[in-house]
Amino acid sequence: MTTNVLIVGGSGGIGWAMCRQLAQLPEIQVFATYRSTLPRGSEDYERISWFQLDVMEQAHYPMLVERLSEVVHLDWLINCVGALSINERMPEKSLKSVDSEQFIDAIRINTLPTLLLAQHFQPFLRKAHSPLFATISARVGSITDNGLGGWYSYRCSKAALNMALKNISIEWGRLMPRSCTVALHPGTTDTSLSKPFQARVPEHKLFSTDKTARLLIKVLQSLDRSNNGQFLAYDGSLIEW
Ligand SMILES: NC(=O)c1ccc[n+]([C@@H]2O[C@H](COP(=O)([O-])OP(=O)(O)OC[C@H]3O[C@@H](n4cnc5c(N)ncnc54)[C@H](OP(=O)(O)O)[C@@H]3O)[C@@H](O)[C@H]2O)c1
Repeated sequence: MTTNVLIVGGSGGIGWAMCRQLAQLPEIQVFATYRSTLPRGSEDYERISWFQLDVMEQAHYPMLVERLSEVVHLDWLINCVGALSINERMPEKSLKSVDSEQFIDAIRINTLPTLLLAQHFQPFLRKAHSPLFATISARVGSITDNGLGGWYSYRCSKAALNMALKNISIEWGRLMPRSCTVALHPGTTDTSLSKPFQARVPEHKLFSTDKTARLLIKVLQSLDRSNNGQFLAYDGSLIEW
């Protein structure tokens, strides 16, 4: 039976690598969203169907539901959307750079979409045998792990995302007992998001998007309901919330 996968943010560095690799696996149909432009090379992958979605536009969610209405069920929904520098503002080094608009936009990009996706796609996931719902978070969203400080908007939006995922895992654990909802940390990956911050990252700790996608897909394939409500790194290790 075909596994239906929806990748939200399929045009981003990690999202596009996930789409490419999933589309090469047998028995998988990939549905993917992009915000403004399709990724280069998308025309080479017949098994990826593309849909436009700006996650900051609430009206786009029911439109996407409508366009996917012929898909009977979704087995996996993976949200790969995220932003660190917002509106050309770099992440804050200290309190004096905190800006309301930057903070609220971080929540609108990094946190709220996961709640809206869960709300709108619950009926699709409910029809799957073992539904899997994951969002790419970031280790810096862990309150326990925070030893460095800084990056107020990004850290807060990812910590709030983690709480959203934990809450969804509890609600869906009751509603869909075979479901699994997780937060994922991809490791530092060479994408446009991390480009300005790569100078001090040792070479062996900077993953290519292909490597990150391969590792995350391996983690996702290993999950079952016993992993529901976990925060997992690219190597499958648990991260404290
Ligand atoms: N790269 C890392 O080292 C790293 C580390 C930890 C966590 N992460 C997380 O990994 C996830 C993927 O990031 P990435 O590294 O692949 O970065 P990326 O290449 O910049 O991809 C981010 C994606 O988010 C999309 N996006 C941003 N705002 C959007 C909106 N309003 N509507 C729809 N899409 C929107 C971007 O679309 P456009 O292309 O249209 O802008 C892009 O597809 C993010 O959640 C990030 O926080 C990354």
